[in-house]
Amino acid sequence: MNEEITKQLKEKFDNIGQDLDVHLQGLLYSKPINYWDYIQTDALLDLQTQRTVLPDEMVFIMYHQINELLFKMILWEIDQVATAESLTADFFSTKLMRVSRYFDMLTSSFEIMRLGMDVEQYNKFRNTLTPASGFQSAQYRKIEISSTELINLIDNRFRATIDRDTPFEHAFEHLYWQAAGKDYKTGKKSYLLTVFEERYKEEFIRFAKFYNTNNLWTKFKELPEAVRTNQDLVNAMRHYDYTVNIKWVMAHYNTANHYLNIDGKTTEATGGSEWVKYMHPKYQRRIFFPELWSKQELDEWGENV
Ligand code: HEM
Repeated sequence: MNEEITKQLKEKFDNIGQDLDVHLQGLLYSKPINYWDYIQTDALLDLQTQRTVLPDEMVFIMYHQINELLFKMILWEIDQVATAESLTADFFSTKLMRVSRYFDMLTSSFEIMRLGMDVEQYNKFRNTLTPASGFQSAQYRKIEISSTELINLIDNRFRATIDRDTPFEHAFEHLYWQAAGKDYKTGKKSYLLTVFEERYKEEFIRFAKFYNTNNLWTKFKELPEAVRTNQDLVNAMRHYDYTVNIKWVMAHYNTANHYLNIDGKTTEATGGSEWVKYMHPKYQRRIFFPELWSKQELDEWGENV
């Protein structure tokens, strides 16, 4: 055996008080790894359980699962930016471009939802999943919380007036997505929102506290000016913002229209929101990095798309 490797192995095991020889003997009996054990294909391919006999429900389930995997990949990269000991421009742009590519993929593949299922089948199997909705994807919310400051996720109607230092609990009640399930006059929440919060609210608040100072937007603003003004980096930031908050949102909205707006008559969504208005980017006005857009671009956000 290569002496240098033996030396490094010995050092490694000495450092944790372990005997290298015992570990080498263990290797004598270890099984060689194979693809299916490493990737866990059996476990992965065992997770697709239909609730109906309609074949296109499988497309719906699997595409959502693919989305959740990509959401995990996105959060994986964002976490590395958030926890990096010292952030270089190169590292920041590399991670941001990875995240952007994942979201590009989610956006361009949304046609699998819009064109890949039979409308009649969709409108049958969706009844079996009511009142569940993609609205309840916790990872999607985490992507938003870790991408920008909470103020940019506050409902547009309250964004200008809410106290920026408001406690997390209060800010949470005014996040844009409360509008999908809350009657602001009575404060009453829909079932969709109530169960979502029971399951995730505490976790979201913990997450938001950490990302309050570690989100992509704050990290970007802390970079030295020469880096912050680097055009490639600025373009990458704008590309990400636009892809998530206009392109993905519109692909999603167009899909909802395809299935739930038939002959000009809109159907209630499984989650029960007033989706026609709620889902459009011009109402939500979610913008992760507002200072990277001109006044005109901000004024026209979500228009003519
Ligand atoms: C046929 C396909 C789809 C339709 C018709 C659809 C429809 C809707 C509707 C109407 C809403 C509003 C909430 C409600 O009342 O339910 C919603 C929210 C949501 N859906 Fe989908 N959706 C589809 C596919 C997907 C996919 C593939 C994902 C990816 C995970 C997804 C993620 C989300 C998210 C994150 C929200 C919350 C968005 C927000 O608050 O602005 N949806 N969806």
